[in-house]
Amino acid sequence: MGLDLPYLRLGVNIDHVATVRNARGGSHPDPIEAAMLAIEAGADGITAHLREDRRHIRDDDIAQLKATITKPLNFEMAATDEMVAIALQTRPNAACLVPEKREEVTTEGGLDIRGHQSRIQDIAGMLKSHGIRVSLFIESDPKQIETAAEIGADIIELHTGRYCDETGSARAEELSRIQQGAVIGHDLGLECHAGHGLGFDTVGDIAAIPQLVELNIGHFLIGAAVTMGLKPAVQEMRRYMDIARKTIA
Ligand code: PXP
Repeated sequence: MGLDLPYLRLGVNIDHVATVRNARGGSHPDPIEAAMLAIEAGADGITAHLREDRRHIRDDDIAQLKATITKPLNFEMAATDEMVAIALQTRPNAACLVPEKREEVTTEGGLDIRGHQSRIQDIAGMLKSHGIRVSLFIESDPKQIETAAEIGADIIELHTGRYCDETGSARAEELSRIQQGAVIGHDLGLECHAGHGLGFDTVGDIAAIPQLVELNIGHFLIGAAVTMGLKPAVQEMRRYMDIARKTIA
């Protein structure tokens, strides 16, 4: 008997199109054009992270994405007053709160929402009162997940970076932690997403977690676009996700 599985959305993160653009200044390649191509190829949403140092996505990219794309915008942001103000002005479909340290290469580890509960709760309340869905990027830790529910988040995005980096039994343990986190989150009424570091070889086991409804994938897809083109890369990722979903249906 088949499971009644929710559709698994693919959110494409276009940050690193902006990284390449910014390497030379100017306007090429255009992250907005990339977002539109990703949508044409089957992306269900677009994610962009406006970092404090604007190393890739810039303020005008966010405004243009909101004005142009035909699918939901997931705005990744640090829990700062500046980013809250931009989110309230932009009104993305969702805001995903992530940890951010100026010196880190990418988002390392999930947000410690237990350690900053009242601040995150205030920000979540402000965003929600403006109709923005609140997503919290956290480790798959039962205590963090319970705190997300207490805060009133709509969504948790479970960090898959360590799963992708590890091998052997450490990877299996990490997968099991993510699977358990998705069950806990789902049982608490949270919409469960996952992302970070996923590629063709790692997406299958994550896509097969039945409680997940969205994966957010960026760096690998933009890298694959160099060799195979963005649309084929998005379509191929979609194919891997669909195969994984079918194996558990
Ligand atoms: N989800 C979150 C919360 C992130 O911060 C990132 C990286 O910006 C991603 C997903 C996508 O990660 P990657 O670029 O490694 O696919």
